[in-house]
Amino acid sequence: MPCKPIVPGVTSVGSVDWDRRLFDELVPLPDGTSYNAYLIQGTDKVALLDTVDPPKFPELLAHLARLGIGRIDYLIAHHAEQDHSGSLPEMLHLFPGATLVSNGKCLKMLADHLHVPAERCREIADGETLELGGKTLEFLLTPWVHWPETMLTYLRQDKVLFSCDLFGAHLAQSDPFLTDPVRTATAARRYYAEIMMPFRSQIRKHMERLAGTEIAVIAPSHGVVYRDPAFILDLYRDWVSDRVQNRVLLPFVSMHGSTRRMVEHLTEALSRRDVEVEVCNLTATELGHLASALVDAATVVIGTPMVLAGAHPAVVEAAYLVNALRPKTRFVGLIGSYGWGGKMVEQITGMLSSLKAEVLEPVLVQGLPGEKTYEALDRLADGIAERHRQLG
Ligand code: FEO
Repeated sequence: MPCKPIVPGVTSVGSVDWDRRLFDELVPLPDGTSYNAYLIQGTDKVALLDTVDPPKFPELLAHLARLGIGRIDYLIAHHAEQDHSGSLPEMLHLFPGATLVSNGKCLKMLADHLHVPAERCREIADGETLELGGKTLEFLLTPWVHWPETMLTYLRQDKVLFSCDLFGAHLAQSDPFLTDPVRTATAARRYYAEIMMPFRSQIRKHMERLAGTEIAVIAPSHGVVYRDPAFILDLYRDWVSDRVQNRVLLPFVSMHGSTRRMVEHLTEALSRRDVEVEVCNLTATELGHLASALVDAATVVIGTPMVLAGAHPAVVEAAYLVNALRPKTRFVGLIGSYGWGGKMVEQITGMLSSLKAEVLEPVLVQGLPGEKTYEALDRLADGIAERHRQLG
């Protein structure tokens, strides 16, 4: 993020990581990312909200130098994950008068992960404020978005919510503000799916609490700043709600074409029943796309061949991801083909234990599917369409 004013007295001083392609050695970043840090200058005190991923620390320092900042009074840590906190030890070293401010849980994690010295820390409680002189910071503890120690800061005079990872997006762009609604909504949905979706109910509670706060600007720790908060709040309200779409997500692998024929037949059968289908060949789909597709699909039907005694390893990986992300999926099905036997039904349904979903009757066939299998797939499509109708 370039060094640019957000509102008077608040400047973005973070960094854009244009070409990073993997986060936590796990999350694909097709659009890069940014580590947003914000400098708030009051009449008496100066605070820096978060830092940047350590390889980008020189950019943060360059921004501070350009602004002529020789003194920082408070380093506010919203979250202990190193993409935001990783440069705190260097900042404490370079700014010996700075106090590290956060909640007790976050300070404990910062001590564990970064060995920050306790004598430089000040613990704050939920709802506590910090005066900078004409700029009042109010701290809101919001555990589990997405770590247990996360908090947000509300700048009262300017009505800016610094939301940390919440409402963020892995998105690199030169302008700190929203410029491309479609690209931003796509990246924010993907970010929600990969990072926030397992904590849907906690996020809903935090949003209910925020509903009583007048917010003019939302400034997250990744992606763009929203001068129209309704843009991202409306998207989140939909994602964290219990509403699902009349859609079946159909991730599959086919080794010799039998499972593919079943997938194609089921897709056609569902489509004829006015159920939307998204088919993902897992050998050609990156997991971020799959996560994004899980956000509001009413049903997931997994297609797999048997490999030795179980499902294809790519399907096992996808099932693990689905279970870990805990989407609001209502119905789960399994279709596939086997050569001589195995236990893929028990294996895959056992892996989806954290979903609160009805498990539909599986459709399996030995070898190539024939008329009986296609009839069973039609019955599966009937059952899904009827269940979706009942959802309204
Ligand atoms: Fe952007 Fe959870 O760190």
